Amino acid sequence: MDQVLVQPKSYPTNLLQKDWSKRKLTERCGQAFVDRVHDMEVRDDDVWIVTLPKCGTTWMQELLWLVMNDFDFEAARNEHLEVRTPFLEFDYVINNDLDLALAPVEALKSPRLIKSHMSLPLLPQQLWTKKPKLIYVYRNPKDYIVSQYYHVRSLGFCMNTTLAEFALEFIEEDRAVPSEDFEHVTEFYELRNEPWIYYTSFERMKLNLRQVIEDICKFLNKTISEAQMQQMLLHLSFEQMKKNPKLNHHWEFEQLRAKFKTEYEDNNFVRRGKAGGYKDELSADIIAKLDDMIQRNLDHCDLSLNELLLLDDKAVL
Ligand code: A3P
Repeated sequence: MDQVLVQPKSYPTNLLQKDWSKRKLTERCGQAFVDRVHDMEVRDDDVWIVTLPKCGTTWMQELLWLVMNDFDFEAARNEHLEVRTPFLEFDYVINNDLDLALAPVEALKSPRLIKSHMSLPLLPQQLWTKKPKLIYVYRNPKDYIVSQYYHVRSLGFCMNTTLAEFALEFIEEDRAVPSEDFEHVTEFYELRNEPWIYYTSFERMKLNLRQVIEDICKFLNKTISEAQMQQMLLHLSFEQMKKNPKLNHHWEFEQLRAKFKTEYEDNNFVRRGKAGGYKDELSADIIAKLDDMIQRNLDHCDLSLNELLLLDDKAVL
């Protein structure tokens, strides 16, 4: 499924002042799905996790699910993450049935935890007015581009493309400034101080996971004991998550591989988990080209990458 240009029925004009008519939006699931999502019902006690792909969604999602479910580690170990907390766009990709596309989300008992990669203007209209709790996680683009490469190959795409070629395609696609990815993140960054938004980054989770867990508990009005915190830090560690079959998207991958029926590379979903791992996967030349693309976008929005990642200005990425 390729990305197609879409237009929402309305824009979040009550949240952000910008020229929405210039906002380019694409979505794999197409216009009819976008219209359906625009009109869907949002519950006051929903919790939404919104990210660009490969920014640490799964890590944060498991953290959130546990905080929302009284640190029930046993239940978490017994059911796939994607079943406990559905990915809004997933069912339509698999079944292509508009009537049933939102069924997994609608069937979920409250309070629901819902994952989406859609941009703010493509999320449900009620989300902009009801303002349920929403968590946004960003990551250094150079790392998420590398991570996306291994992810798409796990699904049998880009099998004849090298990582360098994949990164270059990304640069070509993003020649337009602002790119869609930068619009995606800057819209949520602008909302980061709203009481219903918790904005963070993969890099901050790497630096101090305990702090992020404490912040999320406060944000969701939950308490955590020191024993529960210790369990969380262990359960959410890279090593534990890498070997946890319920956190490596086996449930989703099985359905996607059955649908696309192609040869694929069997990469573990929880793969390397590094901040700055791109440095030993991309050449200096490709890194320079990516830096140029990132800088043009940052100049446009008058922000630094460290600001978007909530890191202090001396952090080296
Ligand atoms: P890498 O491919 O760079 O290793 P998402 O869930 O948004 O698709 O993000 C996936 C990325 O998060 C992968 O990055 C994965 O390894 C990383 N990740 C998942 N759990 C992690 C953890 N506990 N610690 C560090 N990184 C983690």
